[in-house]
Formats: sequence, C-alpha cells, structure tokens
Amino acid sequence: MNEKKLVGEKAAEFVKDGMIVGLGTGSTVYYTILKLGERVKKGLSIKGVPTSIQTEKLARECGIPLTNFREIEQIDLDIDGADEVSSELDLIKGGGGALLREKIIAKAAKQCIIVADSSKMVKQLGEFRLPVEVTPFGCEMTEKHIRTLGFLTELRLSTDEPFVTDNGNYIFDCSYTKGYDPKKIEQELNMIPGVVENGLFVGMADLVITVDHDKKIMLKE
Ligand code: A5P
Repeated sequence: MNEKKLVGEKAAEFVKDGMIVGLGTGSTVYYTILKLGERVKKGLSIKGVPTSIQTEKLARECGIPLTNFREIEQIDLDIDGADEVSSELDLIKGGGGALLREKIIAKAAKQCIIVADSSKMVKQLGEFRLPVEVTPFGCEMTEKHIRTLGFLTELRLSTDEPFVTDNGNYIFDCSYTKGYDPKKIEQELNMIPGVVENGLFVGMADLVITVDHDKKIMLKE
C-alpha cells in the first residue's frame, strides 16, 4: 500500500466521537479526510476545522461538518502532514502554501498528530526549503531582511505570477547554507516586519505517524 495512504488512514483511528478536529492540508492527510468521511457516514459525530480552502472543499465533499473559531474555543486533535520531520519531531511545513492556517490550528489544538511518509523523516531540518509567508506590500524589503539572516530566497510562482496564499499573501522559499537552530530562526524570521509566518513548527508535534523500512507503521512521540 502507498505510504501516504497507510499513515493517513492510521491517523483517522485517533479521532473519537464528539471531537473538534483540525483538518490538515496535503496529499497525505487527504487519506485521513477520506477515512473520516467514511466514518462520519457510519455515524461518527465530529466537527472539522480546515487548514485551507482546498481542505475545506474536500471535507465538504466527504460530508464532514465544519466549524470555525467564532464557534469554538479549542481543537481536540489536529492531524496534518509535513515536508520534513526531524529526529526532535520539529517540522518544516508549507510546501502546499497553507502554513499560516496550519500553524494557527496546530497552536489551538490539545494534541497534534503529524502524518509523514518515510521520505519526510530527516535527522536535521533544512534540506527542504523553508516557506516564509509575507505580505505583498514591501515584499522586496522583507526579502532583504530575510537574506540578512543567512537565507537564499526565491519568490514562489504559480506559472508566471506570484503564488498567492489563501490569506492573500506571497511565499518566499528559503534555503540556508548550513544547519540552523529551528527555534531561534523561527522567532527571528517572525520579528521581521512583513513576515506573516514561517513554516518552522518547533515543539508542536505530539505524535508522528510514519513507516519503517519494512513498511510497518511506526509511532514516534
Ligand atoms: C501544506 O502547506 C503543507 O504544510 C503540507 O502539510 C505538507 O506540504 C505535506 O504535504 P504532503 O502530505 O502532500 O506531502
């Protein structure tokens, strides 16, 4: 079975009746959402909080009732994917551009489960370029400030135009020449005016569902 399907479906088993569930974005959590849709049809009562417009659409198609922060105080369980997971369970997210809503929802959750196929598991973060969401206004100046932290930057494009997030912002994909301290860089990036959020999720994952060399499910916490 494909690894994304294996870990994505496994995560759905952690969802219990009555829960408010953060619904992540991407091709792995896609399988979680399909599974939850099946369970909802069989009587599971949950409400989902989607991390992107794409996920909102999928959840609606699957018949999962949705809610939002005007109606709830807290999320019981957030399930999301990642682009990289370190041995410390720190994450790089935002490959799909949904990092801001993903971080707001992860922060609001009592528990955060990450679903990641084996290609995402790394010793140290940094091979995958770090997505940094910025306001379109002043993005040229914001880019200069990001570079002073030691990053090489590239504006994400969608065909020939800047890629625009669900929040109307742009993304710089940022590479670093040597290993960085995720906690320090996460904070330093967010101090720059014009940076809305970055894709470092430090100390937020409670459980990572992945697969080992024998394609067996492995839980890391
Ligand atoms: C979305 O912006 C990302 O944070 C995704 O969660 C991440 O890119 C994982 O996506 P896949 O499951 O498609 O690899």
